Amino acid sequence: MKISEKPVKELSRDEAEIELARLASEITKADKAYYTDDDPILTDATYDILRRRNALIERTFPKLKRADSPSEKVGAAPAIGFEKAEHAVAMLSLDNAFSDEDVSDFVARVKRFLKLADDEPVLFTAEPKIDGLSLSLLYQKGQLVRAATRGDGKVGEDVTANAYSIADIPKKIDTTADVLEIRGEIYMSPKDFMILNDQLAEAGEKPAANPRNAAAGSLRQIDPAVTASRPLRFFAYSWGDVSEPIADTQYTAVKALGEWGFSINQDMTLCASAEEMIAAYRAIEKKRASLGYDIDGVVYKVDRLDYQSRLGAVSRSPRWAIAHKFPAERATTVLKGIDIQVGRTGALTPVARLEPVTVGGVIVSNATLHNQDEIERKDIRIGDTVILQRAGDVIPQIVEVLLDERPKGLKKYNFPETCPVCGSHAVRDLNPKTGKEDVVRRCTGGLICGAQAVERLKHFVSRKALNIDGLGAKQIEAFFETGFVKEPADIFTLKTRQRQNIIDLYTYKKNQDGTLKVKDGNPEVTNRKSVENLFSSIDERRAPPLDRLINALGIRHVGENNASLFAQHYGSFEAFAEAAQKASDKGRDSYDDMLAIDGVGELVAQGVIDFFDEPHNRDAISRLMEHVTPPSFEVAKSADSPVAGKTIVFTGTLETMTRDEAKVQATSLGAKVSGSVSAKTDFLVAGPGAGSKLKKAESLGVKTLTEKEWSDIISVMNDG
Ligand code: IVH
Repeated sequence: MKISEKPVKELSRDEAEIELARLASEITKADKAYYTDDDPILTDATYDILRRRNALIERTFPKLKRADSPSEKVGAAPAIGFEKAEHAVAMLSLDNAFSDEDVSDFVARVKRFLKLADDEPVLFTAEPKIDGLSLSLLYQKGQLVRAATRGDGKVGEDVTANAYSIADIPKKIDTTADVLEIRGEIYMSPKDFMILNDQLAEAGEKPAANPRNAAAGSLRQIDPAVTASRPLRFFAYSWGDVSEPIADTQYTAVKALGEWGFSINQDMTLCASAEEMIAAYRAIEKKRASLGYDIDGVVYKVDRLDYQSRLGAVSRSPRWAIAHKFPAERATTVLKGIDIQVGRTGALTPVARLEPVTVGGVIVSNATLHNQDEIERKDIRIGDTVILQRAGDVIPQIVEVLLDERPKGLKKYNFPETCPVCGSHAVRDLNPKTGKEDVVRRCTGGLICGAQAVERLKHFVSRKALNIDGLGAKQIEAFFETGFVKEPADIFTLKTRQRQNIIDLYTYKKNQDGTLKVKDGNPEVTNRKSVENLFSSIDERRAPPLDRLINALGIRHVGENNASLFAQHYGSFEAFAEAAQKASDKGRDSYDDMLAIDGVGELVAQGVIDFFDEPHNRDAISRLMEHVTPPSFEVAKSADSPVAGKTIVFTGTLETMTRDEAKVQATSLGAKVSGSVSAKTDFLVAGPGAGSKLKKAESLGVKTLTEKEWSDIISVMNDG
């Protein structure tokens, strides 16, 4: 099982450390996509899962908490283009509740913290959680002097000029207070969002994914005139730096904001118990569709402000508030068509084209249909009314067809038997082991199929492969279409071959009549700069980590995990390629050696062999290797470790550690861990219950160690 899939309580210390590193990196990337690029890569639900897992691991292994722990951060640092704006009082985020029980726990926690008896009533406000972006408005003697986004909570972006163009934001308020910082949420109504997207599409610009992104994009326009033309609105719900208190309670303070001319939410209520809070949640959930703006939950706040200040905050969220989130959402819509996408390995994937519908605050117009069998099993037909679900998954799914709604005369869907891109036959292989048909239908066109070629290139540059900044799916498509890039090696010669063409490509776009028009921005500065940036990020990847390079090749069944096993086992690209080549040439030893890698099975080895069997692939690799030189993989943490370079097999039950833990330790000391005993095995670590492997080791004269002997070796290393 992958470390990322293991329950936290089953993680070893080493695994927890690896997992915390992965989570920190995933969360940072998601934050950047969400806050800086306004282009989220994860759904809220998935994001929440990552954050909760991170928090749980940190609680279980407090010593492993990272200096850059995501639990200490909110959002992302400001993007370039705006002045920085420091927050005198940090802009925090909210902790989440997902169940009624979480809500009662929250109430109990608050009371415990305040040392109040269980039956002592504490008031809470309940109000909609607006799905927008938070904004801080600073008033000095009643005059708006600064508006700032949240940024990372400490430093945001100064968007004062833009805020001045938003009608909902008072420019002057009637107060003599020296400083009054009002906070709230900028948002766009779904209706206005639809109109805006139509306008953007007409102007040939990129539409936004949802009202929240449209609001964020509109607020963060370099030109305030553009912001002025966008239908942005603002709800005030809290405050930051204030020279004099606004009120004694949350409820009356928000009412005071209303008196000053801010829009405040009319659905805020006061609750005296968890039961009342949950009732308020249900009431708001019921009204959700008719509110006229998107919400993703309900926020509860302790009403008394003296309690709020006593409660304070833990890292990124206040103890006195919590967001009770709505569950994954479903919606009903009509299936307008089925598109067939062709992937990197030629797999034909059916994608539902839907009448656009809002699900969980996002407009959805596509959903996955998985495969041919799935369509047949659910008897999905074009024209059907279907139930769509968007859960902790980026791609929405069709869960059910409403058969009662089916119009008369709809035909069963016929899955294509030819590739829609290149016209080659598309077949379902027979699984040699089970004798059953593979669920996936594949195009047999190989590299003559444009779809496969372009998908392989996209994979090559993707995040878990070479991860080239500024070279994503969109650019690859454009470069493939123009013929600038046909195979991976071409990426590294772009700079010398196509500099001016790429600058032009980034500068102009085609009008419908074929004439060229300059894209937005100052072409001389911005486009040249982004092209040069692209070239330097390509240059930065000329020495890619070996595991990433192997993953990038797109060998069937060789993903991140297996790529890293190969990198560890072979240590250099040459060694890997040589072994793969020999195995393809029916070199039994190389094949066995590959299979002996713990975690590598026949399917994977066959994938490697098939790949290296193809002359075209070998040629493409040798052209690529003229431009990239992976540093040799760090096989050993310490070259003088007694087990460095040794091949070790574990068998039987280990008593003081899990098998996985032992493996991680061994590899970190430079050993190779194998799953089977052969003449090449150096040590067999055998616990109770060891059977055939022990026998084989003995017959081959392989040295066997007890778990105790093994840990002695390890502890010598760790003490030294
Ligand atoms: S109170 C100390 N109230 O949700 C936190 N936040 O997930 C003060 N949000 O950063 C925030 N509606 O951008 C509060 N009624 C509401 C809200 C709300 C939306 C946003 C806000 C916050 C985020 C946390």
